[in-house]
Amino acid sequence: MTDTETLRSTWLARVADAGDAPALEEVRLAALGKKGEISGLMKELGRMTPEERQTRGADLNRLRDEIDTALRVRRTAMDDAALDARLKSEWLDVTLPGRPRPSGTIHPVSQVMDEVTAIFADMGFSVAEGPQVESDWFNFDALNIPPEHPARQEHDTFFMARAEGDDRAPHVLRTHTSPVQIRAMQAQGAPIRVIAPGRVYRMDMDQTHTPMFHQVEGLAIGRDISMANLKWTLEEFCRAFFEVPAVELRFRASHFPFTEPSAEVDIRCDWSGGQLKIGEGESWLEILGSGMVHPKVLSAAGVDPAEWQGFAFGMGIDRIAMLKYGIPDLRAFFESDLRWLRHYGFAAGDVPSVAGGLSR
Ligand code: DAH
Repeated sequence: MTDTETLRSTWLARVADAGDAPALEEVRLAALGKKGEISGLMKELGRMTPEERQTRGADLNRLRDEIDTALRVRRTAMDDAALDARLKSEWLDVTLPGRPRPSGTIHPVSQVMDEVTAIFADMGFSVAEGPQVESDWFNFDALNIPPEHPARQEHDTFFMARAEGDDRAPHVLRTHTSPVQIRAMQAQGAPIRVIAPGRVYRMDMDQTHTPMFHQVEGLAIGRDISMANLKWTLEEFCRAFFEVPAVELRFRASHFPFTEPSAEVDIRCDWSGGQLKIGEGESWLEILGSGMVHPKVLSAAGVDPAEWQGFAFGMGIDRIAMLKYGIPDLRAFFESDLRWLRHYGFAAGDVPSVAGGLSR
């Protein structure tokens, strides 16, 4: 074998043996790189006689081209194999049905809170918040319910446990959202227009009562806000919320320590045929308590009753959710029964329904 043939078979074998791209690159450098063997031999051509150079040069050129071609072919084969392997491993049957992605639903209480918030936001009310574990001063005293007041008993209050010798002020699970009135006025002063939706707690349990339920408080304080404004606001709210233009409210004189005068508000409805219709029929359903904020309440919150006045109301969210969506039993709201949640729940995209809109 001539020298060139030995070189050829050696280098072609090494190309064929290279197992992967880095190994192949090493072979290329060792043969054709600047310091490669073939390149080295070509450099020696300069020292040869013209005749030697002619044959040797041609041989080496051919050899270099052959090795170069072999490298390229091998490289292409490797790339193809790698691509094949990738395509195999990443193969995807786009005709398969999608995997079901179970999605939860929005609880009717959350949905109704969003709806209520959207409607009152349209009327210029912002949202205020307060703690669920509340001091008894905010929950009672500031709302003109002093310690011996009978209203304290009516509230079936949960008290926070206190170890003996622990003389921090007594705390309760708030029995209504009304303490948020005080907190909001303390924080913002007057004038003010807020609603405060949230959880409240009372020791009570039957078909229409659960130990935890939801209320939304409303408060509007200004220089000349009157009972007439209260009436308009609530009627406007009910029209939008129940999506019934002919909604009818009945204001019944009542008593709350924190309002004077006070009124409970019923909504006209019809139960005939076992189905509830709002705005017609001969029945009335109580949905909220309301009134003109008592001067003592304003004072307790740092608002001067000689200068400011306004209305407040407290509405049962669960109650109006039951009415609007025809849900018969309150307790089911909090049982987390998936079948119930799927039936009465809302899709995430359901925009708060204010389709009835405000008539302004
Ligand atoms: N806090 C009362 C309750 O839970 C509801 C209520 C009545 C709130 C009259 C008010 C109001 O703001 O003015 O029964």
